[in-house]
Formats: sequence, C-alpha cells, structure tokens
Amino acid sequence: MSLATDEMSMELLVNSENPEAALRNMQPFINLMMYYECALMEIETKLKVLNSEFALQHNRNPFESIKCRVKKPISIIEKMKKKNLDITIENIENNLTDIAGVRVICSFPEDIYTVSELLSKQDDINVVQVKDYIRNPKSNGYRSLHLIVEVPIFLSNQKKYMKVEVQFRTIAMDFWASLDHKLKYKKDNLKHPEIIAQELKKCADMVTAMDYKMQEIRNMLD
Ligand code: GTP
Ligand code: MG
Repeated sequence: MSLATDEMSMELLVNSENPEAALRNMQPFINLMMYYECALMEIETKLKVLNSEFALQHNRNPFESIKCRVKKPISIIEKMKKKNLDITIENIENNLTDIAGVRVICSFPEDIYTVSELLSKQDDINVVQVKDYIRNPKSNGYRSLHLIVEVPIFLSNQKKYMKVEVQFRTIAMDFWASLDHKLKYKKDNLKHPEIIAQELKKCADMVTAMDYKMQEIRNMLD
C-alpha cells in the first residue's frame, strides 16, 4: 500500500523554498494518513480471517475481492471546503468518515449481511453508522451496504480509534455502480443525461432481480 500523501508531498516539496520546513508542517497530516492506513490493515485482516473461516465451513469464499484506499489529499481538501470547515488535522479527523475506505465485493446478497454482522459484533469494533442502500436503494438505483466503523490501532504509546467506511456490494451491484460513477462525472458534457439515468435505473432493477435469482439458485444447490 502506498502512502496517499506521496504525490502531494513531492509536489509541495519540489515547489517549496524551504523543503525542510514544508515537510515539518506536513508531518501531522502524514501521521494521520498513516493511522488511516493502519486502520485499513486492521479491517482488511479481520475480513480476510472471516473469509478463511467461512471458506473452511462452507467450502466457498464469500468475497470476490477486498479493495482498500485512503482518500487522496486533494479530495480531502475539496470535501472540507464543501463542508465549509477550516482545514485542520482535528477537523479532518472529526468530520470526514470516509478517509479510509474498504470495498468488499461478494457474490451473493446474503453473504453481505452474514459478513457485515460478523464484523460489526467483534468486540473491538464500534459501529458508528449503517446505511443500508440494499434494503432501501437510492432513487437512481444505487445499492450497497455502507458501514462506518471505528477500529483501534495500537501505536507505541497509545491505542487510537480510527474511522473506516466499509462498503459491501455484490459483483453485479459493483458493475452497476462503476457505470453510474462514470455518468456522475460526465453528466455536464452529455446531451441527454436524464435518458441515460433512466436506462441505468432499468439496469439497476435487472441487477437486483438477477442477484436474488442467483441467490435462490445457490441456495437450491446448497
Ligand atoms: P459522500 O459525500 O459521497 O461520501 O456521500 P455521503 O457522505 O452522503 O455517504 P454515502 O454513504 O451516501 O456515500 C458514500 C459513498 O458511497 C460515495 O462516496 C460513493 O463511493 C458511494 N455512493 C453513494 N451513492 C452512490 C451512487 O449513487 N452511485 C455510485 N456509483 N456510488 C455511490
Ligand atoms: Mg465518500
């Protein structure tokens, strides 16, 4: 995993008249990003443990893939500006819940609930927020289960709880979301974005139907 700050730090340092001072000023931010990297490692390990145990018990893996990312510094700054907040380490930590993000792609909807519940009830995990866009899809058709959890990281002189956003979705939901994401940032250059949105909504309904049909077949096979 590469530090999310790499890109920005290099640019700032190269353009700075006093690189040593610039680096010193950035240190608290670099530390904070490192804490989020550590929190991601903790969550990733927990998920991999659950995956291995599940695979032994059920003879199949509940996950297709796990992807981790730390939000880019430029996106952190943009989001803080959008929220009209001063850009301080404390404000960043207290107001952004998606700096550390994990995306867990499962084959079947039922596995999403099984695994997310197993993760949520671990005794060192605090669940801060649950947004269930699977049971309550967004009007555009978006479906996924979002958890914001706090996980402790153990540093040399303290135990620190860090927030991590965990998104669970099926392969089909992920396929849909990636196309929808493209629509989001190309919207302004499209002639008829509303028609594409309508078509995408139809796809979302088909994806939902397929997810549950596949689940049904899997249950019959079991
Ligand atoms: P953000 O400010 O975008 O983080 O939204 P939020 O704080 O209201 O949280 P929410 O749980 O609704 O969304 C968090 C993340 O889920 C987003 O950053 C996206 O990665 C994803 N997401 C939410 N809604 C959509 C959507 O309609 N389409 C797609 N493709 N992704 C979405
Ligand atoms: Mg976000």
